[in-house]
Amino acid sequence: MADRFETKTVHIGHEPLRQVKGKATPIYQTSVFAFSSLEDVERYYAGEGEFLYTRNGNPNQHELADTVARLEEAEAGVSAASGMGAIMAGLLSVLGPGDHVLASHEIYGGTYHLLFHELAKLGISAEGIDLNRLDSLDKHIRSNTKLFFMETITNPLLTVVDMPYWIQQAKSYGLTVMVDNTFATPYLVQPTLFGADLVVHSATKYIGGHSDVTAGVLVGSKELIERARQVIVNYGASLSPFEAWLTARGLKTLALRMEKQCDNASRVAQFLKDHPAVKETFYPDAEHTAFFVRPKQGAMVSFTLADESRVYDFYRSLRWIKLAPSLAGVETSVSHPVTTSHRALSEEQRSASGITMGLVRLSVGIEAAEDIMEELNRALLT
Ligand SMILES: Cc1ncc(COP(=O)(O)O)c(C=O)c1O
Repeated sequence: MADRFETKTVHIGHEPLRQVKGKATPIYQTSVFAFSSLEDVERYYAGEGEFLYTRNGNPNQHELADTVARLEEAEAGVSAASGMGAIMAGLLSVLGPGDHVLASHEIYGGTYHLLFHELAKLGISAEGIDLNRLDSLDKHIRSNTKLFFMETITNPLLTVVDMPYWIQQAKSYGLTVMVDNTFATPYLVQPTLFGADLVVHSATKYIGGHSDVTAGVLVGSKELIERARQVIVNYGASLSPFEAWLTARGLKTLALRMEKQCDNASRVAQFLKDHPAVKETFYPDAEHTAFFVRPKQGAMVSFTLADESRVYDFYRSLRWIKLAPSLAGVETSVSHPVTTSHRALSEEQRSASGITMGLVRLSVGIEAAEDIMEELNRALLT
């Protein structure tokens, strides 16, 4: 080893670490991987080595994606820099110019924008359909329809349609089915078991669970995931090793968090249903979620204020429940769909979907349910 001071400063930490068995996975905070020879490089390209460059793949990304794939009962998975990155990769793994997508009209605003605006620039068209009103996809199928997209529990009105039925419908027309399972998580339902080809998560939400990462995961068959991985690599949407590590760390407590958050949410939903300052409460019922693997209805509750003009007062009066336009963290938070997540929709689109000024979206956390109800009660009555 060259041992002049300058050389030592740069290389000293780079000697291969002796094999140590940490209980936790280390963070492979490296943008590139070292090879011991050109033969080794050749072996990577022959498919025998796993890692070359972090944008193409990194052990922390793989740990996260493989875990979600196994929890979702899917063959393979890939992570992305955000939920939107994972959705884009899933869509572009299947779609090309001239293709048509059928999507539930109740989807996350960002997904709507991607489908109806960004993908239009690539010659891909999309059509929104109301799965609450339709019986069949028949009238909407075109010769170029390739993909069907839906969410398990919709945002922000928390509708749960008969997902197994719609997956079966779409498959009967030969469509690829992609389900956004962000709100339900594999703890409640695994769309792959009903035939979904691709399942996507904004891992920023329950998969991570602590509001400290932005990440996405897409799972599905090896073939589709391999194509999606190429999209992520080529569009530069890879997840950073540290974010992947944090997300995988949060994921370990998914079952515990979901159990508590769902139980809290069900109590809070009942409390809101009975509250005089609340006009309507949106929370899935047991009949609609009968296909879930557990008797739980998720941890999100939305409601409208009886007096819509009090909406600013309501948010201002909250003391420890934070107004934050995201969801699923261990801390309870509220958001206001009209001014945040659904801002991109036109006034007509919003009112057609029932997203009104007085609508509050509540993400229920792991605190004592009584404290959550007391805090909401105070803000509703001030
Ligand atoms: C259901 C759903 N899907 C996808 C996304 C996008 O995820 P991200 O913000 O991680 O890109 C969100 C974000 O709120 C979401 O709620």
